[in-house]
Amino acid sequence: MARHLVTSALPYINGIKHLGNMVGSMLPADVYSRYLRQRGHDVLYICATDEHGTPAELAAKEAGLSVAAFCAQAHEAQKAVYDGFELAFDHFGRSSSAQNVEITQHFARRLYENGFIEERAIRQVYSPVDGRFLPDRYVEGTCPHCGYDRARGDQCENCTRVLDPTDLIGPRSAISGSTDLEVRETTHLFLLQSKLQPEVEEWIAGVGADWPHLSTSIARKWLTEGLNDRAITRDLDWGVPVPADTWPELAAEGKVFYVWFDAPVAYIAATKEWADAASDGAVRDWKSWWYEADDTVRYTQFMAKDNVPFHTVMFPATELGVREPWKKVDVVKGFNWLTYYGGKFSTSQKRGVFTDAALEILPGDYWRYFLIAHAPESDDSSFTWEHFATTVNKDLADTLGNFVNRVLSFSRKRFGDEVPAGRAAGDAEARLGEEIARLLAEYEEQMEALQFRRAAAALRALWSAGNAYLGEKLPWVEVRTDPDGAALTLRTAMNLIHLYAVVSEPFVPATAAAMRGAFALADDTATWVTPGRARSLDSVPAGTPFTVPPVLFAKVTEQDLESWRERFGAPVT
Ligand code: MF3
Ligand code: ZN
Repeated sequence: MARHLVTSALPYINGIKHLGNMVGSMLPADVYSRYLRQRGHDVLYICATDEHGTPAELAAKEAGLSVAAFCAQAHEAQKAVYDGFELAFDHFGRSSSAQNVEITQHFARRLYENGFIEERAIRQVYSPVDGRFLPDRYVEGTCPHCGYDRARGDQCENCTRVLDPTDLIGPRSAISGSTDLEVRETTHLFLLQSKLQPEVEEWIAGVGADWPHLSTSIARKWLTEGLNDRAITRDLDWGVPVPADTWPELAAEGKVFYVWFDAPVAYIAATKEWADAASDGAVRDWKSWWYEADDTVRYTQFMAKDNVPFHTVMFPATELGVREPWKKVDVVKGFNWLTYYGGKFSTSQKRGVFTDAALEILPGDYWRYFLIAHAPESDDSSFTWEHFATTVNKDLADTLGNFVNRVLSFSRKRFGDEVPAGRAAGDAEARLGEEIARLLAEYEEQMEALQFRRAAAALRALWSAGNAYLGEKLPWVEVRTDPDGAALTLRTAMNLIHLYAVVSEPFVPATAAAMRGAFALADDTATWVTPGRARSLDSVPAGTPFTVPPVLFAKVTEQDLESWRERFGAPVT
């Protein structure tokens, strides 16, 4: 069995994330990891909060806390939300960890020794009113490329172009709003990415062949435009310090590494955190996942498209320049944007549905299924409350939930608390078995290709096949004239329920547990059911005791819809 290393883009610490962040990184990574674990693979799913850089400092300031105190609190707040979404990280770490300081500094020293880092005097925006340099998001202004008037100094949120604060038109301080800004000279470390470009190109030419189209197209565009040498240090109070042994002067000036330099390293550092957190004498070998990892480790990353250049080009350049055998990504799965009624979800502008508020309304499974079934894979996709309600009602409540409840309650009423025996399977069951095997194979194929919408469609088709079978057999009619036939139908349907419990787990884990728990199966250890095995629909034998779980999914009512539209300021459609 392969070993699968999975990471999702590290969420910035600056606030609770919205549904768009969730669907483009952590959620698909979790669905994929759960699937792989069920298939029996050795899986390590690592994530962390991205705690450095101007977003953290600005948010701490707004909260009236020290950056360290803010980050500690905000990390816990995010973690609680991810628990609510049932994200089963092997470890959810912090980029401000001691492990990350150590490994980031090590990377920098090695890059320097290898001739890929040099000091350069550059001109930086300085604010006399604030008494400091204003890197990255500390400057806001108009994007020179698209004209968006709230572009930030590191990247334009609108057109996703990476910017330098001095690029902005009409710049202003994000701290004081002052437009009285000047440009002053200061020394910073530069990563000589231009020197590494040929190696990155060669690496992508090999590994990138298997990547989804979105990732390769973004990577190619960046490489065609050419890699620029980039400043990797900043004048900030918070961050990984420049190591004094290598750069005493810069360290004395209090320079820290740029957030995008230390954040990807935190994938590695968080894996070390995971190992260091092992209790009871358990040995967790973090290095075998990352250092001189053999061919059995397959590394898949998940992220939204604005992050793709950093992961396909810049971090690999860093890893290559370190000249040590660090594991590089095998597959980069990028996502487009989820919009809110066609407009932007925005953390900084607090527009859209935030993950904490989502959980106040409904449990994680509702969101997980909706988001993945409509993930912005081939294109941007739009969240609307109407679409959400239709999906929940049709797919979750009617197709899955109702099937489970109808079958179990009816069987209990007519045949008692055990799976009824009835007649041996006939033609209808054989046809159903074929259909199930075909759809399950489709589901596996799409999941392995990281095509989440299609995998969700196959899962939905599996649920529908059960309803079609019931519609054909009509056990509530059958039972009047042919109780043995009705018992066969119900026994088969209960086997479908158990199969659904197994294969729906990556999408709706809490519901899947409730479904699986309905059957008192002595030996229910099988993690996955292969299509060949699923065909016979007999893993739950007659005589198995069962219980009827509470309604799995509540329907969204007109009143719900109205109150949510009002609470979340949905535009009138
Ligand atoms: N915090 C970044 C964002 O939300 C993602 C960082 S991913 C990592 O856009 F590679 F840097 F960790
Ligand atoms: Zn722009």
